[in-house]
Formats: sequence, structure tokens, C-alpha cells
Amino acid sequence: MIKIQNLTKRFADKTVIENMTMDIPDGQKLAVIGPSGCGKSTLLRLLICLLAPTGGKILVDDVDINRLKEYDLMKLRRKIGMVFQSSALFDSMNIFENVAFGLRQQEKHPPENYIKEKVKEKLKMVDLDGTQEYLPSELSGGMQKRISLARAIATDPKIILYDEPTTGLDPITSTNIEDMINKMNKELNVTSIIVTHQLSTIFRTSDRIVMLHEGRLIESGSVEQTKASENPIVRNFIKGGLP
Ligand SMILES: Nc1ncnc2c1ncn2[C@@H]1O[C@H](COP(=O)(O)OP(=O)(O)OP(=O)(O)O)[C@@H](O)[C@H]1O
Ligand SMILES: [Mg+2]
Repeated sequence: MIKIQNLTKRFADKTVIENMTMDIPDGQKLAVIGPSGCGKSTLLRLLICLLAPTGGKILVDDVDINRLKEYDLMKLRRKIGMVFQSSALFDSMNIFENVAFGLRQQEKHPPENYIKEKVKEKLKMVDLDGTQEYLPSELSGGMQKRISLARAIATDPKIILYDEPTTGLDPITSTNIEDMINKMNKELNVTSIIVTHQLSTIFRTSDRIVMLHEGRLIESGSVEQTKASENPIVRNFIKGGLP
């Protein structure tokens, strides 16, 4: 269970997230929506401790993640996989090394055979076993997203964060990534937090939607509740999407 309590994040005098409180139960597929610049990526960075909050706290399984010492922080990071807004693969490393990255970061270096098996298993999950020797630049954008997903699940996380997993992809590739997100959630029994602008992704992958506006949480509900929302900002989003 993730508990976000009175979370505030400021950059200099700009408040990006203001007094946000919400619980995210285990296994939930949560979509976080809102206009460009409203703080979605910032929220994910706070969840993975790449940023520290200005106020409030985040508890993961009742542990305050900002109080962790380095060793426990590494353990937490293994519990959380992140698929970044740009796929953020390492250009000069082949696919095998990209997916193996998190495994090699562990304090007890796993044996090479184990790494090989794990990478194969994760690449199979995203239907890309056999690409181990390729460089990221030799794969399409959609394939790179799937590699990024394989890398995120390499350490068997309990939580997967997706930052715009389908933005910029064609409809067929988007559908394919959405299916992957659903498959990961079901087969790995993880909690998924999906930040996105894309309506198809919101409706096809989430069982709860929260909307951010000017740093605040303005709506939280199921897909059906969100579609029926009377809030004009939410209605506008559902009608036309936001920039
Ligand atoms: N490290 C930083 N230092 C200063 N300002 C920042 C920093 N990171 C983000 N911001 C500001 O915080 C605001 C929210 O940024 P964020 O990237 O979270 O938005 P977003 O909702 O993910 O937008 P998009 O949909 O375009 O990806 C922006 O105004 C951005 O300029
Ligand atoms: Mg963003």
C-alpha cells in the first residue's frame, strides 16, 4: 500500500504539488491525468525518491521513504520499477545490458547464469526475446518502450510507474503497450501508476483515475465515474484531451 500524506513539492517559489493526500492499494491500476506541467512526472520522481518532498510524506508499506538510509533506499528502488517518459535506454549498451542493469546494481552481484535467465524471462514477457544483442537505436520506438518495461521489471518490483508510456506511438503500438501494462499487472500482481495524456490508455488500463490541476488533486474515481464527472475541467479533458 502506498500512502501519500499532505505531499507538497516546491521548486524555488513555484508550488508544483500542493497538499496531496491519497492511498493507492496493492494491485491497483491508477491513472494520473492532467495538463502538461501540472506535476505528474514530479509525482513519480517523488515516489521513486529521485526528489525529496518540501512537505508531507510518502509511505510504502508503512515505511516513510524519505527517511531511508542508502542501503534501504536501494532496496526500495528494487521494489519500484519505472518506465521513463522517454524510454531512457542506455544508447551504447545492448538490450541485454540495458535489461540486466538493475540486476547488476544489487549489492550481492547475482551469478551471470541467473542474469541471463532473468533477462530472457523478462524479454519474453514483452515478446522481445532474441533482441539481446541489438542496440536500442536498432529497434523501433514501440520496441524501445517494451525494452524499457522489461528493464523496469527485471528486479521483480511490486510497483511499476509508467510516465507517458504510449505518448507519441501510433494507435496499434499504443494498444500493444496498453495490453502489456494490463498483462504485467495481472501476471506479476503489481501496483501500476500510469501517468498519461492518452485517453485510450486511461480507459483501457486503469481501474481508478485521479486528475491533477494546478498542483491539486481535483478528481478521483473509476473510469465510469470519471466519464460521468460534472467537474468542467475533467469534462473538458474527457471531451478533447489536454495539450
Ligand atoms: N527539477 C526541477 N526544477 C525546477 N522546476 C521543475 C523541476 N522539475 C519540474 N519542474 C517544474 O515543475 C512543473 C511540473 O513539471 P512536471 O515535469 O512534473 O510536469 P508534467 O505534468 O509531467 O508535464 P508533462 O505532461 O509535460 O510531462 C513544471 O512547471 C516544471 O517546469
Ligand atoms: Mg511529464
